[in-house]
Amino acid sequence: MQSKQRRILVTSALPYANGSIHLGHLLEHIQTDIWVRFQRLRGHQCYSVCADDAHGTPVMLKAQELGISPEEMVEQTRAEHQQDLQDFLVNYDNYYITHSPENKELCELVYNRLNENGYISKRTISQLFDPEKEMFLPDRFVKGTCPKCGAEDQNGDSCDVCGATYSPTEVKNPRSVVSGATPVLRDSEHFFFDLPKFESMLKEWIRSGAIQNEMANKLEEWFEQGLQQWDISRDAPYFGFEIPNAPGKFFYVWVDAPVGYMASFKNYANKHGIDDSEFWQTGNDTELYHFIGKDITYFHCLFWPAMLEGAGFRKPTGVNIHGFVTVNGAKMSKSKGTFIKGRTYLDHLNPEYLRYYFASKLNDSVTDIDLNFEDFVQKVNADLVGKVVNIASRCAGFISKKFDGKLSNNIENPALLEEFQVAHNAIAQAIEERHYHKAIRDIMALADKANQYIDAQAPWVTIKDENKQDFTHDVCSMGIHLFRILMVYLTPVLPSLSKDAQAFLNDEFTWDSIQDIKLGHSINKFKAMIQRVDADKVNAMVEASKEHLKATSQGTEKASISEAATSADIEPIADTISFEDFAKIDFRIAKIVHAEAVEKADKLLRLELDIGTEQRQVFAGIKSAYKAEDLIGKHTVMVANLAPRKMRFGMSEGMVLAAGPGGKDIYILEPHSGATPGMRVK
Ligand code: 2FM
Ligand code: ZN
Repeated sequence: MQSKQRRILVTSALPYANGSIHLGHLLEHIQTDIWVRFQRLRGHQCYSVCADDAHGTPVMLKAQELGISPEEMVEQTRAEHQQDLQDFLVNYDNYYITHSPENKELCELVYNRLNENGYISKRTISQLFDPEKEMFLPDRFVKGTCPKCGAEDQNGDSCDVCGATYSPTEVKNPRSVVSGATPVLRDSEHFFFDLPKFESMLKEWIRSGAIQNEMANKLEEWFEQGLQQWDISRDAPYFGFEIPNAPGKFFYVWVDAPVGYMASFKNYANKHGIDDSEFWQTGNDTELYHFIGKDITYFHCLFWPAMLEGAGFRKPTGVNIHGFVTVNGAKMSKSKGTFIKGRTYLDHLNPEYLRYYFASKLNDSVTDIDLNFEDFVQKVNADLVGKVVNIASRCAGFISKKFDGKLSNNIENPALLEEFQVAHNAIAQAIEERHYHKAIRDIMALADKANQYIDAQAPWVTIKDENKQDFTHDVCSMGIHLFRILMVYLTPVLPSLSKDAQAFLNDEFTWDSIQDIKLGHSINKFKAMIQRVDADKVNAMVEASKEHLKATSQGTEKASISEAATSADIEPIADTISFEDFAKIDFRIAKIVHAEAVEKADKLLRLELDIGTEQRQVFAGIKSAYKAEDLIGKHTVMVANLAPRKMRFGMSEGMVLAAGPGGKDIYILEPHSGATPGMRVK
């Protein structure tokens, strides 16, 4: 069927090596894997590579926190990521790491070529420096007061309250998130890549069909704002590759990450006698596709093609951009249990359910994809169990028991069979163009037809009629042929179910299998191939993903004070903290001088606490246990040196200690009423 074998290299964005694979990653890896499996099934040569993105400040700091070397940490994470992805049946030819000799060499090559071609310049810039940690601070490691609206505790580059964006040097009262120290300005020489020189090339490339129009339009806005010189260097200490002839200067992680695509493929190619250069040199008939999320479009559609061009390499044939995952219509949330890690999902549910569900929703746009649990359970059960596998289970028993496990030599309904076969054009086109939802819709419409056919012929009735044995044989065989075609179509989405189907059908699928109908073919006994999704398992997965009583820390969404104070769950004791850590907590006697219910918050009371030297406002999740007025005048114990947190209702400047299973049974810690406010609690 295929006129020409295509040669394709495909990549997914490289997950950072300092966190777990979660549903957001999985959308992309599953999208990529379906496309790659489809190309292979069609007989094309399609390589797919990925890797862990090992470098950068967050990785370096996380390793320090764990007390291990960054090399050790990233290798552990890489292995964990690879296993998670494999268990979702995501089948990369190579899952490597950017901290590799191949990547170092390739980064140097790319950089040297850019330098030789006049695209690198140097200039001194002033940046915030943490004098305690002795390191320059990336924007997200600086916090302080918004220079525009004065809101406290805002990020170094943008304000959540007024939406302003600014440079970290503009932040008022800045502090280092790493050490808490006040950063100072320090000069340092940086290396810049001359992105503006590539403007006309990029403008043409984004309209060449390489990216979706909606994203090309978005990029136009960036062109209007003007392309800037791109700062590609970072100062030591930095976990990364040192820039040639520039001791103490490292490539910014976003330089070596995309080069990591090349490096992962090189590592694979070297082991398998493949000439990887054919996929990167210009003038070859090979194709190169990157699958990415919309948040990293800038890097892949501006910097990366410009770097490739500037270094004399080919540009991507396509950058396929997808949206984010939402769960039950909202952003994934740790406290709601909808920030679900791949491993937690796998502990409860079959990976193919998710593959199928995502496929049924994916298209070529950057709109977010919602995982709605009710819809998920309903769709998987109705489509996979109720429609597709049902066809085989309705027909297979008769073939085994009555017809010696052999399909008949006749085609009972040639028109219907042809309809199933002809559909391959539309289905293939839909998958090729990443309209997976359309392919699934077409496949399920066919599955409905197959079931209607079986309903109408009612083989369970005709089997009882001596004169209709051949007819029953033909009908059941027809059902099996139809099931087989559907399973060929679903193979890229459901590789494991397809494998079971191939074992049952005594067959090996290629896309062309649909044209080759197996008359008189022996099949095996039908065994259950897929279980219904149990909604309880979905709930258990959500419960297991809830992070409500865990200690708070910077950077990610954490439990709010109210949830922490009222949850009835007993969680395992978290990792131990050192005595030094404990000694840092400043417990103080606090007198509740004012208390009031917070409107629109079910659990919160707003407390004003006198701690001797000052008065603090704290929001506490104890409304179910205490009337505000009963608290006024009481003494309690508070954590006085907890970093202030901006809550929806205002700043919370500490935490009162309370315990109990929840509801009315929450008890604040009440020291002797004669205790003096501000007294340290030992
Ligand atoms: O955004 C991210 O998760 C990055 N680690 C993606 C890197 S993709 C590529 F450029 F390597
Ligand atoms: Zn602001």
